[in-house]
Amino acid sequence: MSEKGRPGDPCTVVIFGASGDLCKRKLIPALYNLMNQNLLPENFAVVGFANREMSHDEFRAYMADNLKEFAGSKIPLDRAGEFVKGLYYQTGNFSDRAGFEKLAALLKQVDAERKTGGNVLYYNSVPPAFFGTIAQMLGEVGLQRSDGQNGAGWRRIVVEKPFGRDIDTSRDLNKQICSVFEEDQVYRIDHYMGKETVQNIMMFRFANSIFEPLWNRDNMDHVQITVSETLGVEGRGGYYDTAGSLRDIIQNHVFQVLSVIAMEPPISLRPEDVRNEKVKVINAIRPLTEEAILETTVRGQYGAGMVGGKPVPGYREDPSVNPKSNTETYCAMRLDIENWRWAGVPFYLRTGKRLPKRMTQAVLQFNRAPMMLFRNANIESIQPCRLIMNIQPSEGISLMFEAKIPGPTVKLKTVRMDFNYENYFHAAPETGYETLIYDVMIGDNTLFPRFDMVDSSWKVCSPILDIWQNIPARKFPNYAAGSWGPEESDKLMAKRGRMWWNPRD
Ligand code: BG6
Repeated sequence: MSEKGRPGDPCTVVIFGASGDLCKRKLIPALYNLMNQNLLPENFAVVGFANREMSHDEFRAYMADNLKEFAGSKIPLDRAGEFVKGLYYQTGNFSDRAGFEKLAALLKQVDAERKTGGNVLYYNSVPPAFFGTIAQMLGEVGLQRSDGQNGAGWRRIVVEKPFGRDIDTSRDLNKQICSVFEEDQVYRIDHYMGKETVQNIMMFRFANSIFEPLWNRDNMDHVQITVSETLGVEGRGGYYDTAGSLRDIIQNHVFQVLSVIAMEPPISLRPEDVRNEKVKVINAIRPLTEEAILETTVRGQYGAGMVGGKPVPGYREDPSVNPKSNTETYCAMRLDIENWRWAGVPFYLRTGKRLPKRMTQAVLQFNRAPMMLFRNANIESIQPCRLIMNIQPSEGISLMFEAKIPGPTVKLKTVRMDFNYENYFHAAPETGYETLIYDVMIGDNTLFPRFDMVDSSWKVCSPILDIWQNIPARKFPNYAAGSWGPEESDKLMAKRGRMWWNPRD
């Protein structure tokens, strides 16, 4: 992390899947934002690679239009002309060697024109079925080489999620990629690690001395992490119906958040030190037996309902979804981390589509006060303190605690102390990909899950998927769009006297 602040190394970014949504909505705007922040190197180029026929100029014009739409209203576009000059395009099929040979020739030309030092960042913004194939093709035409020969500088490959669909396919994919690239050339991206608020969890914990002493089983009752979305499947059934919420959100995004909340302090901020601690905590999750899975996991699928005051159809009614689909759009679970810090402090995780509010947060609930000092003052209930890490859409941290309502009688009310990023830093809006792409350009892989982390996450999630597949859900849909998910999820919390923390409004 020490090198941050300088522009990234001169390089060419090859985007496989350049005609897709991610490229125009996130990747190109993120690169442009980096230019605005003077973090993009002067010697820089993008090569878009996709099936669609397009000339360099057509690609430039297409991306200039997209920037207007997706860069965000607060981003000045005065450098857009300069930016699109560095864009190139190559038509090609991901499994056809001919396109990769043309790519090799184009990269030489681009390197000569833009002086990018032979450094190339390959970004896989393609359906997962192509992740391995693209790596293999790059290997076949020698584009993975980072040996300084033949004009080659560094070569790094970014792989989007999902990394496999279970433990076996993830291992196969890793073998395929690592037969061509070395582990330190591979950047497995999880866009949650690009969120400021997720990165800030580590800073919050380890740059302040007052919180860490409380961050353990002596003081915490439990931790709950929620990723709730108001969006439904919205025509993405082709992918989503084969995935479901456990694969789509829990195994990657939620496990990343969990790992930064629960990890031990690393001995330094060097990538391997941080990554070692993150994986250790995932390895400490108690493996779930079949009985535990039936008892401590919940799945749901939304039916028709109302979201934001509007009627919306059920999951199975989406034209891109199998009308008899058994895929879960909601899941919740309790996990136990068996280490010295967290023994006895359950971690509750949940995610769902078509819930009432878009919200990602982690709530750390502290133990109740050890005795009811106010019993005789007719106080009905004293709420435990809660620390809420708001990841999105509101970004910040709140501490909720009890305070006396002014007046002659003793009455308490829960109040909150808020830190909000926007009010404090007036930060420019970002896509969430800026930091991650920049980190690849400077060769810092701290925020990218190493393969052992991916593997450990699958070790927890794969058995759940197996049981769910063998014992199909009995009554799907089991929650209405616009509700907080299936009843069983509340019951999972209630079993041990707890509740999900749902915002009131
Ligand atoms: C993606 C999932 O990884 O994350 C989507 O595939 C989900 O289904 C999205 O909607 C959520 O991302 P964010 O940043 O909006 O929370």
